Amino acid sequence: MEKILIVDDTEEIRKQLKWGLAKDYEVLTAGDGKEALAAFRKHRPKVVTLDLGLPPDPAGTEEGFRCLEEMLHSDPAAKVIVLTGNEERASALRAVQTGACDFYQKPIDINELKVVIKRSFHIRSIEDDNRRMQIALEQKSTQFGGMMGQCPQMEQVFSTIRKVASTDVPVFVTGESGTGKELVARAIHALSLRHDRPFIPINCGAIPENLLESELFGYEKGAFTGAHARKQGKVEYAHHGTLFLDEIGELSGGLQVKLLRFLQEKVIQRVGGREDIPVDARVVSATNTDITKAIAGGSFREDLYYRTSVIAIHLPPLRERGSDIMLLANLFLRRFCDGSSRKVRGFSSESVKRLESHDWPGNVRELENRVQRAVIMTDSPLLEPTDLGFAEASPPGGVTFDEKLTLRDARDRVERELIASAIQEQNGNIAKAAEALGVSRPTLYDLMKKHGLNA
Ligand SMILES: Nc1ncnc2c1ncn2[C@@H]1O[C@H](COP(=O)(O)OP(=O)(O)OP(=O)(O)O)[C@@H](O)[C@H]1O
Ligand SMILES: [Mg+2]
Repeated sequence: MEKILIVDDTEEIRKQLKWGLAKDYEVLTAGDGKEALAAFRKHRPKVVTLDLGLPPDPAGTEEGFRCLEEMLHSDPAAKVIVLTGNEERASALRAVQTGACDFYQKPIDINELKVVIKRSFHIRSIEDDNRRMQIALEQKSTQFGGMMGQCPQMEQVFSTIRKVASTDVPVFVTGESGTGKELVARAIHALSLRHDRPFIPINCGAIPENLLESELFGYEKGAFTGAHARKQGKVEYAHHGTLFLDEIGELSGGLQVKLLRFLQEKVIQRVGGREDIPVDARVVSATNTDITKAIAGGSFREDLYYRTSVIAIHLPPLRERGSDIMLLANLFLRRFCDGSSRKVRGFSSESVKRLESHDWPGNVRELENRVQRAVIMTDSPLLEPTDLGFAEASPPGGVTFDEKLTLRDARDRVERELIASAIQEQNGNIAKAAEALGVSRPTLYDLMKKHGLNA
């Protein structure tokens, strides 16, 4: 049986709840904060009901909030349902902001509360499943150098990496900026028989052309002014290892010819040298430009392309990877939280929406940067869109939260305002307004009816 902890300073309520819940749960009870935290740490209940008014401050909420914070600090996965008195709406909101999963207004109707409890266990079990899946995938990803993904396109990429790694065939990796091309090259190397030999990356776009040749192939003493001693090039360093030619599309015509010769004959000549030096290096190339266009336009040699692209791997842009977006977001969240004292529990539902619908021009790198920024910037346990650097959605006009408003009224008013402004923004086009609001068209019609709105 699942454990639930009931925290309430009124013995009568503890008894009532224990009696009402004992059939379905193993019920633990506590009458004050100290007892509650001790029981919480000892039994690790998945769900807690917490009365905010605890001694020594039964009329206030401070002890209750302290308890809530400490529980979430010691187990961020805990589902805490906060019980509030009738006049404590502000506390209910604050509790949810602090990380409570739900709130319930006294007086207690046990059947109603049971539904809330059941739902909390349900959410908890879904979250536990997700966490387990995430961890399993993260473990699997370590064989690919921390590269993660489970969408069909990425499964295809992993399967190709696995197949080609043990061979020496040249691999050509394409994909937009930040999609993980270098990670693929490193994964191929890590899974190959060459893994304990050097992996040598060289960015063909970053080095001026006149320096690139000696950078790649090295030079002999006296090859040019300043060449005081013989120097090995990157290609030679990659002997028995893997040479990663990043931004290969940037290579000049002359160097393309020299590289082609190396690929065909497996020998190089240093600048200013005559001697053929045999080099056994596995070549992985990458580009984020359209290489077929470059070939058609004559700036990239077709024969070099065929030599370097015996196997081609294309990385899909992040926006096409579906649920991988949240998978990666959670991966980065955990990585950045592990490295800091920040306790962030996850992404708010609004953030999830924004992450899933963002266009991701900078792909995985952009996601990584946004999550890192958010972990630093946030003030709340759940990352909000603004933490992630997304502009705030236009606020619903005219809603003010005056004290006498009940939560239901407030929700209704926000809902009505949002719907009205969406319809107005879409010039009465219901299909578009529904899409903008993230609901189906029939749902929107129902909501319009409920709020007495017309298109
Ligand atoms: N599938 C993935 N799982 C985890 N991290 C990833 C994944 N793909 C990319 N990354 C991370 O995203 C960042 C960018 O990846 P990488 O440098 O390999 O991209 P790239 O395609 O080479 O980009 P560019 O074209 O700008 O050079 C890196 O920090 C990398 O670790
Ligand atoms: Mg790169």
